[in-house]
Amino acid sequence: MSKRYDFDKVIDRQDSDSLKWGKYCGQDVIPMWVADMDFASAPPIIDALYKRIEHEVFGYALPPEDLSNIIIQWCAEHYNWAIRPDWIVWLPGLVPALHVMCRAFGQSGDEVITFTPVYPPFLSAPKLSNLQLVRCPLTMEDSQYTFDLDAFRSRITPRTKVLLLCNPHNPVGAVFPPDKLESLARICIENNILICSDEIHCDLILEDIRHRPTASISEEIAAHTVTLMSPAKTFNLPGLNCGFAITPNPDLRHCFSTARAGIVPHVNALGYIACLTAYRDCEPWRQELLAYLRSNRDLIVKTVKETPGLSMIAPAATYLAWIDVQAMNLPDPMAFFEQAGVGLQDGSEFDGPGYVRLNFGCPQSRLKEGLHRIRSALAKI
Ligand SMILES: Cc1ncc(COP(=O)(O)O)c(C=O)c1O
Repeated sequence: MSKRYDFDKVIDRQDSDSLKWGKYCGQDVIPMWVADMDFASAPPIIDALYKRIEHEVFGYALPPEDLSNIIIQWCAEHYNWAIRPDWIVWLPGLVPALHVMCRAFGQSGDEVITFTPVYPPFLSAPKLSNLQLVRCPLTMEDSQYTFDLDAFRSRITPRTKVLLLCNPHNPVGAVFPPDKLESLARICIENNILICSDEIHCDLILEDIRHRPTASISEEIAAHTVTLMSPAKTFNLPGLNCGFAITPNPDLRHCFSTARAGIVPHVNALGYIACLTAYRDCEPWRQELLAYLRSNRDLIVKTVKETPGLSMIAPAATYLAWIDVQAMNLPDPMAFFEQAGVGLQDGSEFDGPGYVRLNFGCPQSRLKEGLHRIRSALAKI
């Protein structure tokens, strides 16, 4: 495949408005923490944004006319999932949607269950809504992360109202198989538990497997599910704030929309344009990105294998590596790696102490330097 896009290009983000880079401003630390990538956006998105800016007026925005249809087409082509325009609720981000789910469907003291370790807002959203968080630790099957249905069932009580499901999973990078999802959903339906299926990483599958949206498994499951999707991770647009929830159930949609009203802001004009252009025009860019991420992922897996004291399961999706550093007995792993010149995210934030999360969405030269620093620092212990 001839290459059209230059993912090797090193862009200086130090003096930009980057959260990821600002944390280590003026320090010799390579930021490999928060989940955005160090790549330029796809050229069609940049062109579309310029065109929109040339209009010079930035009033309250409506979704572009074609946007729902483009998303419908994307879901049909990539996931064989037939959705309808009225099922879509626009969102400026998916984290607010996790909170809205808790507020819409739980009352003080009710329980929200999730599989741990997990993306930190899954852990904090229930608490901030006066709900109880119930953790169900992920398990291993055939050397892959998965969830245990008996363990899940055993944690359910009459007060369990919502499952916050992350698939593909951040931070472990697992893509859960449809049969397992179906069994999980069945338990939820039997126990009147609504499923919030956060699928923000679904367009970033690195293995030759297909993502299956939970709600696409059956109409009955769809009726109990709110799916969250967004172009933000895949097309590197998290600063433009555009995502959406999908639910065919009008009652769920009504409760979700009511809990959101007046609190969650509208999507902005640039976010809508970027979202439309990403799904309409950027599939070739995404395909090249996936090839690049695969090669970065393979490099990390190889390096980790060759580094005494480190281990990991190769992520099947995402640009995040979940690395087990327990064997090194580091009192503060994140501080240790920062000292070595690499900014990682501490596993304890995800309810996974003894692990670190490394973001490999960056030019390979930067990744190699980061891995070199990690190896050198560990070799000195
Ligand atoms: C599973 C998951 N959900 C949501 C988000 C963030 O979504 P947003 O920036 O749209 O709020 C992330 C970011 O990494 C994520 O991994």
